[in-house]
Amino acid sequence: MTEAMDIDEPAPAPRQVNAMAALMAGAKAKGKQKEEAVDPREGLPWVEKYRPESLDDVVSHHDITATLDKFIETGRLPHLLLYGPPGTGKTSTVLALARRLYGPMFRKHILELNASDDRGIDVVRDQIKSFAATKVLFSKGGFKLIILDEADMMTQAAQGALRRVIEQHTKNVRFAILCNYVNKITPAIQSRCTRFRFSPLPESEVARKVDDVVEKEGVTITADGRAALLKLARGDMRRALNVLQACHAAYDNVDETAVYNCTGNPHPEDIRTVVESMMSDEFGTAFTRITALKAEKGLALQDLVAGAYDFLETVELPVQSRVYLLDHLGQAEHRLSLGGSEKMQLSAILGAFKVAVELSQKKSLK
Ligand SMILES: Nc1ncnc2c1ncn2[C@@H]1O[C@H](COP(=O)(O)OP(=O)(O)O)[C@@H](O)[C@H]1O
Ligand SMILES: [Mg+2]
Repeated sequence: MTEAMDIDEPAPAPRQVNAMAALMAGAKAKGKQKEEAVDPREGLPWVEKYRPESLDDVVSHHDITATLDKFIETGRLPHLLLYGPPGTGKTSTVLALARRLYGPMFRKHILELNASDDRGIDVVRDQIKSFAATKVLFSKGGFKLIILDEADMMTQAAQGALRRVIEQHTKNVRFAILCNYVNKITPAIQSRCTRFRFSPLPESEVARKVDDVVEKEGVTITADGRAALLKLARGDMRRALNVLQACHAAYDNVDETAVYNCTGNPHPEDIRTVVESMMSDEFGTAFTRITALKAEKGLALQDLVAGAYDFLETVELPVQSRVYLLDHLGQAEHRLSLGGSEKMQLSAILGAFKVAVELSQKKSLK
C-alpha cells in the first residue's frame, strides 16, 4: 500500500507540474502573442515607432500643448490651424490630441485626409459633409475631428468649399488644418481657426530624442557623427531620425563620413576644397577641378552652394565682397532650382568668386 502510495503519490505531482508547465507555456505563448501585437512597431520606420503618444511627449512646444490641454479641459476646442516647417510635430500633436479626446480607439472618431488623397471640391463636399453630418456618441464635448494634413496643397476652389462646410458643421465637428506654408491657406479659413506656429526644433531637443533612440536601438555613433547629424537636421526631427536609421542600417559605426555619405550631402572637407579652389585657382583650373570632384563624389552643385554659404560664414571677407558673393550665390541657387544648367551656373559662381576676390584686393590696396 505504502509502495502503491509511493508510486501513486508522485504521479499527480508531475501531472500537476505538466499542467502548470502547459499553463505557463500557454501564458508565455499569450505573452508572446501580446508582444507580437505590439511588435508591428519593430518593422516600422523609427519616425513612426518613436512618434509621441501623448501631448506631454511632444517636445519643445509646451505653450501649444498646454493651450490645447486647456481647450480640451474646458470643452471648448476651436478649429485649429497648425503650421510650420516639416518634422516639427504638427501631425504628432493632432494625433495626440485625438487620442486625448477619444482614447486609444480614436481613429473611429476622426477623418484624416492628406495630400495623397483626392481633395478636389467633390471630396470636400461629399466625404467631409457625410462624415460631418453623422451624430457623435460618447465623446468629450460631443464633436468629431476632421484632420486635413498638408492643407496648403488644396486647390483654392476646394478651400472655398471648405469654408462653407466649416461654417455649417461647427456644431458637431472641429477641423484641424495642418500645413507648411500658412500663406497658401485662404484668409477666410485662417480667420475661422486658432493659429499655432510650430517653429524648427532647437538642436538640444533633437539631440535628446536622437540620444534616446540611439540608446534604445543600440546604435554605435561617434561624437562627430552625432554633431553632423544634428547639423544636417536643421531642426527637423523627422530628417534626424530618418538619417540616423539609414546610417545605422548601412554602417556599423555611424561617424561623420557615414552621415554625409548617407544623405548625399557634400562632406565639409569637399566644400573647403571647392571654395578654396574657387578663391585661389585660375578660372579654368578651378572649373576642371570642381567638375572632376563633382563627378567623382556624385555631388550636386546645389548642395555645394548650400555648403558654401555655411563655409563662407567662417571665412574672413571684406563686407563688400561678401555681399557681392552672397547675392550671386543666391541667384545661382535660384536658377539651379528652376532647372538651370550646372555647367553654366558653375561658371557664373566662379566668375562671382573672382570678382569678389578682386573687390577685396582693391579694398586692401586703398
Ligand atoms: N515636437 C516633437 N516632439 C517629439 N517628437 C517629434 C516632434 N516633432 C517631430 N517629432 C518626431 O518626428 C516625426 C515626424 O513628426 P510629425 O509630427 O509627423 O511632423 P510634421 O507633421 O510637423 O511634419 C514624429 O514621428 C516624431 O518622432
Ligand atoms: Mg505632418
